[in-house]
Amino acid sequence: MQELYYLCPMNALKACIFDLDGVIVDTAHFHFLAWKRLTDELDIPFTTEDNEHLKGVSRVDSLHFLLRLAGKTLTPEAFEDALKRKNEWFLAHISTMTPADALAGIPAFLAELKSTGMRIALGSASKNARLILERIQLTHYFEVLIDGNQIEKAKPAPDVFLKGAEGLQLACHDCLVFEDGIAGIEAAHHAQMKAIGIGRQDVLHMADYVMPDFQGFTVGKLQDIWREMH
Ligand code: BG6
Ligand code: MG
Repeated sequence: MQELYYLCPMNALKACIFDLDGVIVDTAHFHFLAWKRLTDELDIPFTTEDNEHLKGVSRVDSLHFLLRLAGKTLTPEAFEDALKRKNEWFLAHISTMTPADALAGIPAFLAELKSTGMRIALGSASKNARLILERIQLTHYFEVLIDGNQIEKAKPAPDVFLKGAEGLQLACHDCLVFEDGIAGIEAAHHAQMKAIGIGRQDVLHMADYVMPDFQGFTVGKLQDIWREMH
């Protein structure tokens, strides 16, 4: 058995794939505010607990989820109009963002990752991902950037992370995902990748490890967690 162990050593971690909203920047709250404005107009009850199910979920699928909450339907024109208005409200929040809005610990962690030669990719469902990264001036860290404009099947489908690994020309088991959404953790697992959940343990219990944020997080700690996962 011992020999077998040496023949099949744990693979080294080669890349980190980051979700954007709620992991790198607190746009998850802006999404909630924009959906809340729409659901108030449509008289749909919508809570922060419901919002956990929208994290990582595409704009279209999110609206379907919200309409289902109240058993409502919209005409195709009203559906498109609702999506458009929600995005306009979301973009108004984005327009106020500055580099100071990157989540605590993220710029330092990205810088340390880069300095150690770790590969870095983005795997976001958002069609606004590039715009948001530009606003917080972190685009240069990402070697590969996969967003909602490049994928057909949204999280929990694995596509966004599979494309990330493909862009890096790495195997899935060499990559680790950082995610704040239930759908995103499922997407990582569907891609055969380990996932670190950013947020609450009770919400993200299916993740391979959960931490509240990146404050004080280092590449050394990441390597320890990676070893414990295998
Ligand atoms: C995800 C968010 O990152 O992007 C979801 O967690 C959002 O809440 C999805 O619906 C799509 O984003 P956008 O910016 O294209 O509406
Ligand atoms: Mg997210």
